[in-house]
Amino acid sequence: MNAIDYLRISLIDKCNFRCQYCMPEDQELTYLLEQDFLTKNELLTLLKEVFIPLGFNKFRLTGGEPLLRPDLPEIVAEIISLKATQDLSLTTNGFLLTQKAESLFKAGLKRINISLDSLNGQTFEQIIGNHGKSRWEKTWAGILKAYEVGFNPLKLNVVVIPGVNDHEVLDLAQLTIDKNWHIRFIEFMPIGNGQLFQEKAWVPSADIRQKIKDKWGLEEANVKGNGPADVFSIPGAKGTVGFISQMSECFCDRCNRVRLSADGWLRPCLLNETGQIDLKTALRNGVKSELLQKNVADLLLLKPDINFKERNMGSNGHSYDRTMSQIGG
Ligand code: GTP
Ligand code: 5AD
Ligand code: SF4
Repeated sequence: MNAIDYLRISLIDKCNFRCQYCMPEDQELTYLLEQDFLTKNELLTLLKEVFIPLGFNKFRLTGGEPLLRPDLPEIVAEIISLKATQDLSLTTNGFLLTQKAESLFKAGLKRINISLDSLNGQTFEQIIGNHGKSRWEKTWAGILKAYEVGFNPLKLNVVVIPGVNDHEVLDLAQLTIDKNWHIRFIEFMPIGNGQLFQEKAWVPSADIRQKIKDKWGLEEANVKGNGPADVFSIPGAKGTVGFISQMSECFCDRCNRVRLSADGWLRPCLLNETGQIDLKTALRNGVKSELLQKNVADLLLLKPDINFKERNMGSNGHSYDRTMSQIGG
């Protein structure tokens, strides 16, 4: 069985963007209340007394948008200081990085994944929910700031949507030639976005890979993150291009992760909530760490059966109600 040692920790369910594939405008979302969030200390207790003893050593902070969490630098510093931590990373939309990249780097965060779906301001606005403001420039400046501050590897996530941004694939891949950036093309998933997905569908990674190969050539790169990306590079390029292909390929059998929601629910699979545990309530009710550890260990044993392997998502109208912002991607 695959080792499950990677915990994705959602710190907040709110976001300052409203990406149409993640939090569609036509969908009313209810947000958690302040008191529902796991506090920094509760999170650290769970890490030290439950997850680390079970072998977890890779952590990723997600949202919504994790940069909206005021105590983020302190959370980073505390997790970095744990002896067991082998890897800590963060997934962000980049908008607040101009202000926050430096303090995060100083707190000990060394790598970061940033969403960037378009190089075109208008397309970008269309994707992130148009509010009449231009937010591309600030997001781009945030990416440059993170690069300048020294985040390495710096990964950019592109969700490819047919007819919206798929014509930009070569321009985005081209960024890796001169910059040590890692662009990852993600197949669009039908999670909490039924309408858009029904209209647009998704582009197979194989098609994008072929397009890039036809233009520049492509070789396998000997790079592996903790995630499901298959990584290649354009010959002579400084960076890499990766493909996250959860629609065309099932990587559930090599799944190494579970997810902790901002309100403390442990979820064994992105797409299946079977068996989820409310760790926050248990902790607040004084349940002993040993028992929590046992409950989590039992859930990990069941995980291979819980992992969602159905690959015809989106066809026949099948979609998931919770949004990616509520799950943390
Ligand atoms: P690294 O490769 O270690 O940098 O991490 P990562 O790729 O796991 O992190 P990131 O948050 O950037 O995830 C990118 C995307 O991969 C997510 O938004 C999802 O689309 C996809 N993904 C990550 N984990 C899973 C998973 O367990 N199942 C599925 N189906 N998709 C996932
Ligand atoms: N399909 C694929 N990826 C998605 N993300 C958010 N929603 C979707 C979706 N429906 C990605 C974002 C971000 C990561 C956390 O999740 O682009 O990079
Ligand atoms: Fe916010 Fe990220 Fe979702 Fe976009 S994809 S709405 S930036 S959480």
